[in-house]
Amino acid sequence: MSDMLIYSSYLVAAVLFILGIKNLTKPRTAVLGNRLSSIGMLIAVVITLLDRNIVSYEWIIAGMVAGGAIGAIMARTVQMTSMPEMVAMLNGFGGGASLFVALANAWDPAAATSLVALISIGITVLIGSVTLSGSFVAFGKLSEKISGNPIKVPGNTLLNGALLLAGLGLVAMTVLEPTNHLWIYALVTVAILLGLVLVLPIGGADMPVVIALLNSYSGIAAATAGFISGNTVLIISGSLVGASGLILTRIMCKAMNRSLTNVLFGVMAEGGETVDADEIYAGKVKSSSPDEVGMLLETAERVVIVPGYGLAMAQAQHAVRELADVLQERGTDVKYAIHPVAGRMPGHMNVLLAEAEVPYEQLVEMDEINPQFEQTDVAIVIGANDVTNPMAREDKGSPIYGMPILNVDKAKTVVVVKRSLSPGFAGLPNPLFAMDNSLMLFGDGKKAIVELTGSLKEAG
Ligand code: TAP
Repeated sequence: MSDMLIYSSYLVAAVLFILGIKNLTKPRTAVLGNRLSSIGMLIAVVITLLDRNIVSYEWIIAGMVAGGAIGAIMARTVQMTSMPEMVAMLNGFGGGASLFVALANAWDPAAATSLVALISIGITVLIGSVTLSGSFVAFGKLSEKISGNPIKVPGNTLLNGALLLAGLGLVAMTVLEPTNHLWIYALVTVAILLGLVLVLPIGGADMPVVIALLNSYSGIAAATAGFISGNTVLIISGSLVGASGLILTRIMCKAMNRSLTNVLFGVMAEGGETVDADEIYAGKVKSSSPDEVGMLLETAERVVIVPGYGLAMAQAQHAVRELADVLQERGTDVKYAIHPVAGRMPGHMNVLLAEAEVPYEQLVEMDEINPQFEQTDVAIVIGANDVTNPMAREDKGSPIYGMPILNVDKAKTVVVVKRSLSPGFAGLPNPLFAMDNSLMLFGDGKKAIVELTGSLKEAG
């Protein structure tokens, strides 16, 4: 096959990846983005198979059949709520695949000849191994196979630093003495340990940020693996994953008001003062009923629905969609306010609402919806807590001070649907529940919304 055809096909694949990512940034074009990227990947795989003087196709076909079958079963059976742990595992496999590519090349004297290839092998082994072990710890924590609590190793930061230095030293040794395979075995061992001690001390709740970071590492490992064999499309796609993983990590840290160092080395941000829930709520919380809220909605012209983690727990997305349909039939304007870290994984609310086929144009991002709350008659908060907590805006002593929130308290009336006054992820009371314009509708999210829709329908 001519070089011209190979490189132009790789270029087309790379352009399709970039267009794919661009389209994935909006729910409306996300499906197209996914398809474009898949076509790019198909072109890259087919051209590589035709170009690389494959000695035997049997193993490749066997791997594709086995991997494809496992992937298809997982895609059909894994619950939406288990998606973060599945992504963690897949990241680990990505890092592991790059690690094995590097090891295969290290053992092949014909492959590991140039300085670039030797350095790339060492770095791929280092990053691939860290990604593999780190991702499996993240998977274990999220699936509760190991404790989600931070597991502190004494002198953790020092140990991390020492292992990183040892890893870099061993990369240098694999370059200087490529035929002595002891160095590469030592490198794999040290890097696997580094992955473990990096992720074990981080709490389960911070795992989504860690997963975004490990996703970035798996991309970097793939890119460096591309340098070993001089495969341009692997370098480009790996770099795209590496960069987008880093951007996602940053967005999540910003939306949670945490720095990356705080996630990696600390627990939650330190709060200046402890907040007494009883003091905030005493005598001020007003409980309501579906009929009462139904009456309120009868006259509302603008309603904003604010979903949070409790929506996923209650699996109330279809019930919410039905409520919105009934309201719209009555001529009410309905929108959904989407906070970037509502729920427990990036895009959690988008995925849930898409499952209930909520039209994309009704989903409004935080920055766009916030100025609209003042003109909103009723904001219905369903299983959301931290992402609506006014302390983040007003209380300088609060651990969540500075976290951007949805300003639901500015709406004329706020209805909060949750089972109790229990706190959310951050463990803090929410003064929103005690505000003059707030009504609590206590109960399971799905049940409460179904009852609310029922009373609205009865009202005709
Ligand atoms: P949270 O603040 O965690 O609050 C969720 C609320 O849902 C709880 O207060 C709970 O109250 C309620 N709930 C649970 N089950 C329910 C059910 N069956 N029916 C009705 N309500 C139910 O959620 P949020 O507002 O979505 O905020 C997300 C939090 O997670 C933020 O602090 C964010 O920083 C953090 N976080 C997010 C991510 C990503 S990427 N999304 C990653 C890591 C951490 P009751 O028990 O009283 O019902």
